[in-house]
Amino acid sequence: MTARAPARATAEHTGTDPGEPSTAEIVVRGVTKTFTRRGGADVPAVDDLDLDIGHGEFLVLLGPSGCGKTTLLRCLAGLETPSRGEITIGGRAVFRAGRGARVDVAPEARPVSMMFQSYALWPHMTALANVAYPLENRRGGRREARAAADRALALVGVPELAEQYPGQMSGGQQQRIALARALVAGQDVVLFDEPLSNVDAKVRDQLRFELLALQRRLGFTAVYVTHDQHEAMSLATRIAVLHAGRIEQLGTPEEIYNRPASGYVARFVGVSNELTGQALDPTTVQTDIGEVTARVPTALVGHPVLLASRPERWRIVTGTPDEPNTWPATVDLAVFVGSRSEYMLGVGDGTRLAVWDSGATSHTTGSRCRVTIDPADVRVLPVDEGADEGSSWS
Ligand SMILES: Nc1ncnc2c1ncn2[C@@H]1O[C@H](COP(=O)(O)OP(=O)(O)OP(=O)(O)O)[C@@H](O)[C@H]1O
Ligand SMILES: [Mg+2]
Repeated sequence: MTARAPARATAEHTGTDPGEPSTAEIVVRGVTKTFTRRGGADVPAVDDLDLDIGHGEFLVLLGPSGCGKTTLLRCLAGLETPSRGEITIGGRAVFRAGRGARVDVAPEARPVSMMFQSYALWPHMTALANVAYPLENRRGGRREARAAADRALALVGVPELAEQYPGQMSGGQQQRIALARALVAGQDVVLFDEPLSNVDAKVRDQLRFELLALQRRLGFTAVYVTHDQHEAMSLATRIAVLHAGRIEQLGTPEEIYNRPASGYVARFVGVSNELTGQALDPTTVQTDIGEVTARVPTALVGHPVLLASRPERWRIVTGTPDEPNTWPATVDLAVFVGSRSEYMLGVGDGTRLAVWDSGATSHTTGSRCRVTIDPADVRVLPVDEGADEGSSWS
């Protein structure tokens, strides 16, 4: 067997060039934050990370628990001091360590505001006082701060709550107040750390929609942390998928979903059918279910590979003559979920495939069928550590 191809995503997938000067609103270069756990082990929560975020962009940091999302956001805000690297916001260096004179601008002097997962409102202050608080030490004093807070409460749609205390409001209302407080100072950059994860699903959908509309209208640059792929896809201009403190892939929601750079990304942003095999030539991969036709990147020819495909790209067909990528299958499970039918098919000797069809359920459990996929819809990737767990089924 030949050597394994590298599994780590390349600069092509992270979209940054560490050697080039950048005109982005936020520029992160070589930022590392290492924590020392009790007992002495070092954890690189953010690991030599490069990222450019454009002016007015809605950039989502997506990844599982512990991948470094909050740590990176806190480094941007100045609430965490990186071990090394450089951060520039709005053309001004706010942090630099390891090269040249050290820079570390205090959080309150950075052009950013932040909204957290927990409402973080002061319980002894009214909604209006909570929102006005960040402005009270500015020129113009209390009166102007209160006037700006009134406008911010109107902006987020709850002017009638001005005199309520946090304990007298619902969770969704408290998050609206927290949003007003994040927006009141009119900062160019607003950082969000899972701001909607504590509110129920309906309120979350509504708030997400309003947040996006506000961001488009006010034009601030948003950096938004979530581990919810649906939330990421519906908000982002670009998504950065994080893995162990590094960016595994940076791209538009469409690129991340349809052209994942690794099995890790394919698995994290949706249901992914996975097969492992050996790439024989530029169009053929030998797998447990036989030869699969797909476009093999030149660097992977001759290597073990992972084939990833989306359930909605497979089609169940009956009676068609043999064409490439068609296999006999058994329907192990057929479920109608309203917007589509979901099938679990058995192919070959124990391979399972999730197949989604937008129509009504027309194949019953236990029946035989044939299943096919267009070679263009099979993604050929380097094998990674999660590759042998089989297809995922939600
Ligand atoms: N103050 C700290 N001391 C030690 N380790 C820490 C500290 N803060 C974070 N870590 C570690 O750094 C890593 C990244 O943590 P971080 O909070 O950034 O993850 P996250 O992606 O935001 O996760 P979640 O989705 O659970 O919020 C984790 O392994 C975590 O245990
Ligand atoms: Mg977090």
